[in-house]
Amino acid sequence: MMNSTTKIATALTGLFALAMPAFAQAPALTDLEAAGKLVFEEEIGCIECHGALAKGDVGVGPNIQGKSADEIRGQIESNELMMFDATDEQLAAVVAYLAYLKANP
Ligand code: HEC
Repeated sequence: MMNSTTKIATALTGLFALAMPAFAQAPALTDLEAAGKLVFEEEIGCIECHGALAKGDVGVGPNIQGKSADEIRGQIESNELMMFDATDEQLAAVVAYLAYLKANP
């Protein structure tokens, strides 16, 4: 038989387990994602127009979380604001970072 203290402890443990996902931290960046963060924030600086988490909240470019290399290339070829050069390595890295942001909003 459970005494009342045990019952309360059991209930609290259950509540804590339920609450855990809310506190779950985003997983650490892989090396490729970290390289992409550097491209995003410094090397090319997508952050200036697309916002800190690529959410499109600075009022220039839209939310680009989860966007593909083809979509980025298409913009580089057609969008006057995005006429910068990006190597395949930079594109692959930034795509990985944008996918990470989409998965961990
Ligand atoms: C100087 C500002 C600026 C910078 C820097 C910039 N962008 Fe953009 N980007 C824009 C604007 C503005 C648009 C919207 C263009 C349109 O809708 O015609 C856009 C559109 C896009 C789109 C298409 C979004 C969609 O929904 O179709 C992608 C993908 C994108 N940008 C990725 C990037 C990435 C990745 C970088 C960095 C490597 C970057 N941009 C850097 C301004 C910028």
